[in-house]
Amino acid sequence: MDDAQPVIAGAEQTEPANIVIFGAAGDLTKRKLMPALVKMIHCGLVHADSRIIGVVNNRTEEEWRELIHTSLNKYAPELGMDDDRWEAFAKHLKMVPGDLADDATYTHVGKAVETLDGRKNALFYCAIPPQWYGRVAEGLKQAGLVRQDEGFRRIVIEKPFGMDLQSARALNAELQAVFDESQIYRIDHYLGKESVQNLLVYRFANSIMEPLWNRNYIDHIQISAAETLGVEYRAKYYEQSGALRDMIQSHLMQVMTLVAMEPPVEFTDQAVRDEKMKVLRAVRRFKPRDAERYAVAAQYASGSINGEKVPAYVAEPGVAPDSATETFAAVRFYIDNWRWQGVPFVLWSGKRLAKRVSEIVIRFRKPPFNLFDNHAKAPTPNALVFRLHPDEGVFLRMNAKMPGLTTELQRMVMRAPYAGDGNDVAEAYEILLHDVLLGDATLFSRADEVEESWEIVDPLLKAWRDRVSIERYRAGTWDVPDIEQLFEGCVGGWHRPT
Ligand code: BG6
Repeated sequence: MDDAQPVIAGAEQTEPANIVIFGAAGDLTKRKLMPALVKMIHCGLVHADSRIIGVVNNRTEEEWRELIHTSLNKYAPELGMDDDRWEAFAKHLKMVPGDLADDATYTHVGKAVETLDGRKNALFYCAIPPQWYGRVAEGLKQAGLVRQDEGFRRIVIEKPFGMDLQSARALNAELQAVFDESQIYRIDHYLGKESVQNLLVYRFANSIMEPLWNRNYIDHIQISAAETLGVEYRAKYYEQSGALRDMIQSHLMQVMTLVAMEPPVEFTDQAVRDEKMKVLRAVRRFKPRDAERYAVAAQYASGSINGEKVPAYVAEPGVAPDSATETFAAVRFYIDNWRWQGVPFVLWSGKRLAKRVSEIVIRFRKPPFNLFDNHAKAPTPNALVFRLHPDEGVFLRMNAKMPGLTTELQRMVMRAPYAGDGNDVAEAYEILLHDVLLGDATLFSRADEVEESWEIVDPLLKAWRDRVSIERYRAGTWDVPDIEQLFEGCVGGWHRPT
């Protein structure tokens, strides 16, 4: 960690706050939240007078501190947490012991929340399994921690936000019975990726984009997240979830709304989310039999990744040997409005694929005719690629002349790496936590968006619910059965990341 450089240039100052983490000894806290908080305090993105209050069961405060210190070294070695740095961070920490099911825990949290600079601001972060969200909200209410007369009170909810439309509605109702919608921050870490925000700037701060951004010029759009990791230690959750819920209903559909939305009237949370919501409302609804035609599911078999053998999904710890859970899902959506009528949006994501790449590929229509027809190579349709990770940036694929006495064509790519010149790319959790502290909900999903996206995928989930078998792809490859059929009529077909 560089002592001099702020992680987020030009960031706004936040008020001192009590950051209360439920599940403060859990995986998310260890891998993501604590490293983000260390950096944020170091760089002044979290006010230096803030407190981090961990709610932890069955551990002493000493054990918990030791756990956090060890995991910072393990998961964020780049922070270089030597004794001095650790001491500087550890003075912000405080632990509240307690069981989430016990009312007394919330009373203790209430006592731990301090007045800082005259205000009792509190951010409650639910880094816990979703079945506890409602209970925590209720406990906070009973302990009088929801009213905002002494300072702000905000609750942060992690995904999965429900498992289908019905459960998402129930969860929204539970939370909204306690908190006002403006106090609820549903995190989708994809919206915190700087490259995703860059997409909005690209679209709405450049006048050359808008005239092309529609069905007249765009053939189809692919939004993808390919991973090399397998299910890891998360079989219990993933067996219930699968790739459609885990990645498409949440992250990729959110990205789709940003790609497809109309320019908002202003850059505020309500205006942006209103436009995203209009996109979701225009997404064509699937009928029960559409799953066969518009969606593909598959599961990884054993294979090898970067020269290392990896087991099949069904051989992973905690996975049923006859599991038909999809580790790859692809869906072809249509958005029935004036801008996008007839343009396929294909969203796909899979684990244990050949590469870890996430990108948005805008494929343009073919040139109306081929002027250079007497040569072997036809022009390749233009493509604009927003690489979300790794190597964030924007790439425009064009045709150019081959050097020499010829009009033969060759592909060329214009590259605009996002973080090329030593700029730090802030981690999604840093951006999102900072936004919660500022009270800016633009990059968080609103209740209606979440319900609408569940409503869209629900027919597919139902169609796949009773599946007893599933097609397989070899780990470490792009050999997903039937995937090409989803790109029927799309210029260039499936874009395998390179
Ligand atoms: C999480 C999913 O939300 O996103 C994981 O639950 C997935 O299964 C992860 O691996 C991918 O995030 P990223 O930022 O690595 O693309």
